[in-house]
Amino acid sequence: MLAGKRIVLGVTGGIAAYKAVEVSRRLVDAGAHVVPVMTAGAEHFIGRTTLSALASEPVQTSLWDEASPIPHTLLGQTADLIVVAPATARLLAAYAAGLSTDLLTNVLLATRAPVVVCPAMHTEMWEHPAVQANVATLRSRGVHIVEPEEGRLAGGDVGAGRLAAPERIVAAIEAVLSAGDDLAGLHVVVSAGGTREPIDAVRVIANRSSGKQGYAVAAEAAARGARVTLVSTVDLPVPGGVVVRTVETAAQMQAALTELAPSADVIVMAAAVADFRPVVVAAGKLKKDQGIPQIVLEPTPDILAGLGASKPAGQVLVGFAAETSDLLANAESKLQRKNLDLIVANDVAAPGVGFQHDTNAVTLVQRGGEVDTIALTDKRSIARAILTIVVGIRAASTIPNSKRSLTK
Ligand code: PMT
Repeated sequence: MLAGKRIVLGVTGGIAAYKAVEVSRRLVDAGAHVVPVMTAGAEHFIGRTTLSALASEPVQTSLWDEASPIPHTLLGQTADLIVVAPATARLLAAYAAGLSTDLLTNVLLATRAPVVVCPAMHTEMWEHPAVQANVATLRSRGVHIVEPEEGRLAGGDVGAGRLAAPERIVAAIEAVLSAGDDLAGLHVVVSAGGTREPIDAVRVIANRSSGKQGYAVAAEAAARGARVTLVSTVDLPVPGGVVVRTVETAAQMQAALTELAPSADVIVMAAAVADFRPVVVAAGKLKKDQGIPQIVLEPTPDILAGLGASKPAGQVLVGFAAETSDLLANAESKLQRKNLDLIVANDVAAPGVGFQHDTNAVTLVQRGGEVDTIALTDKRSIARAILTIVVGIRAASTIPNSKRSLTK
């Protein structure tokens, strides 16, 4: 899987820079072509000659002294993957802010290849809110973070922040490369955000869904090669390669999804659809002097149940379950009732889970009864786990080979 892959190995200035040499050696041994890029800081810790000798070509350090006038775009465009090990707090901050301060940050900004970042620093720095915010930003953009480990640090200190072992870094690179295109050729339809049901000309019944989880699924699906249509009620930055259909009410979302469903290979229903809506929508704005209005509600259509009832052969239908009690039992009941292949249950009463957070923690229940649990992590990682299971469901189903573009 690594054979023939062109991997840019960025090394920044930390005591763990010496481990980059071992990462390079392992990648080269596995058949990869390793292009080493060092920052000025890295040169305080290891010599260029060491890394040049063990990589596939000489180390590059500057935008200005190489044969090519634009080394960053060349490196960024030709890479199959970029890995930064170790990554300092400075590198994380510059990359998150989009600051091109040296060759490595230029390369990171001038690429569409997957990026794996392996932070390493002292515990206080690693746990600093600014560093954690930068890590969260990078994750939300699809950057793969290999978390540092606990152990001995420079200066005799012990704690979290030690660079992940080279074998873990290489395994992460392999995992990213193997996941690369596993949704290529598929149409993935995702819903995101909470629906808004009008009461009158200005008021709505809404819920707390931010759309972040649905957008993360859409971004991950696009990064894995799918054609993605996102049916959304919110206005978030649109991930690259994703087409958005904006809707507001449950009825509009149902109309959009009913139209898209026949061409969808995968549908992921992350939206929080209102269960009730006013029977009558007042034409103008209800006035206080007209008295307190009595709003009579009626059920909205259960969009997911409708999609489950008319699901074409081979389509993978994924629902979410937002629960505050009996997580597993409620999720299993929805899985059966709505004819789903997979349900993603989140306990939205737990800290950091579900509505509005950047993080989520979920239990994934498959139709066959298989259960996976993902502890609290960023929503992009949740998306990654969901789509990996979707790929597995497709691979295990009886989809004709001509339609099966999944090889995992
Ligand atoms: O948007 P975020 O802030 O990132 O938060 C993410 C989330 C908490 C909204 C998301 O993770 C989530 O749980 N989405 C589903 C919320 C929900 O409506 O759950 P439910 O248990 O009420 O519904 C079960 C499933 O049926 C859902 O897939 C829902 O989209 C679908 N449904 C529900 C009602 C309805 N009328 N039609 C539906 O299709």
